[in-house]
Amino acid sequence: MVSPSDMSGPGPGRIRQDTVYRAGVAGIRPTVPTDAAGLERAARRRMSRKAWAYIAGGAGEGRTMVNNREALDAVRLVPRVGVDRSRRDLSVTLPGGRYDNPVLLAPVGAGALVREDADLAVGRAAAATGTPYIISNQGSSPLEETVAAMRAVDPAARHWFQLYWSTDEQLVDHLIARAEASGASALVVTLDTTVLGWRPQDLNLGSLPFSRGQGIAQYLSDNRFLEIVRDRLAAGTAGGIGGVKVTPAAVASLLSIARHHPGRALRNLLSPEPRAAVETFLDIYSNPGLDWDLLATVTERTTLPVVFKGILDPRDALSAVEAGADAIVVSNHGGRQVDNAVASLDALREIRGAVGDAFPLLFDSGIRTGRDVAVALSCGADAVLLGRPHMYGLAAGGQRGVEEVIGNVLAELDLTTALT
Ligand code: GLV
Repeated sequence: MVSPSDMSGPGPGRIRQDTVYRAGVAGIRPTVPTDAAGLERAARRRMSRKAWAYIAGGAGEGRTMVNNREALDAVRLVPRVGVDRSRRDLSVTLPGGRYDNPVLLAPVGAGALVREDADLAVGRAAAATGTPYIISNQGSSPLEETVAAMRAVDPAARHWFQLYWSTDEQLVDHLIARAEASGASALVVTLDTTVLGWRPQDLNLGSLPFSRGQGIAQYLSDNRFLEIVRDRLAAGTAGGIGGVKVTPAAVASLLSIARHHPGRALRNLLSPEPRAAVETFLDIYSNPGLDWDLLATVTERTTLPVVFKGILDPRDALSAVEAGADAIVVSNHGGRQVDNAVASLDALREIRGAVGDAFPLLFDSGIRTGRDVAVALSCGADAVLLGRPHMYGLAAGGQRGVEEVIGNVLAELDLTTALT
């Protein structure tokens, strides 16, 4: 893959077009559709109802997702002519150094809904395209395995780690230490999910992936977490998925929990620990008491650059700067947390005004295409996180699908830059 900063060549836009059109001469079509709506349709066809509900769904009536799209679509670009644009450089400095492109892969939890090796496949695609991957705290493979998969493709591949602040402070420190040991370039602390939003698509199916053991691999591979589970079991406070009727779905959930727990599935089926682990996760994964005083301790607890994610109000942005953030991700969590929240793009403009030109701002929520990335950059973002589209690429075409989604977004960004 050639990046926009490889200015001596034709640029990724022309290269991707050439690749697609040349293959087309032999009757070979792209693995995944190159337009956002087609990609979404192709992904949906291959996803279960539960996977679609969780990944495509949002909070409440879905207004925030609409607001995100409307704000992005409301920005009309004015093509300009008569300027030499044969050299286009979109490289950017962010925590962790210089990056060729202003696009990172967002952390997406419970990718196992799409396929069990989701994080590994996405990680490999990220590495193959030189795209940093923000590995989710609610990932489906242990952080260390995902990093190993990335480095097998490119030893220089870069990742960041996303942290949910648990109610157990030792677990927070453990996860931070693992992020450091894994060679992460930044720690991304998500602030907007101290409780899970109201999500009717999942609720209507009674479906939460974590309660089936999906998306809790970082916890199940953490000694401190397993210690908490065992302490709770010993104290008889582990809860348990009690009161659940014995139905085929309940059996399938128990099997899923046993399969995702470390160790032999048969042994896990007979042990109370896997179910206690799920309950413990649900109880402690996030901390509704998280405040700026606690957040400010993060800079003493890690040597990594700290990125605060999920900020929409300029006052919160200023608090984040004061608490020691090295960067902020302006985000409404892809519209998954609060219904009819402010469009992330509108928040971006205000926050850019509040923090000044030099402070690193990343952006997500609503990004579907390279044009969207160009719009976000023009409204003050230094870089953009790509969320649902990479999961759709995974569903529609596996690792190759993710690579093509990234390639398509960068190509359109490059061509849009060349033309505007
Ligand atoms: C978790 O990050 C979620 O949005 O479900």
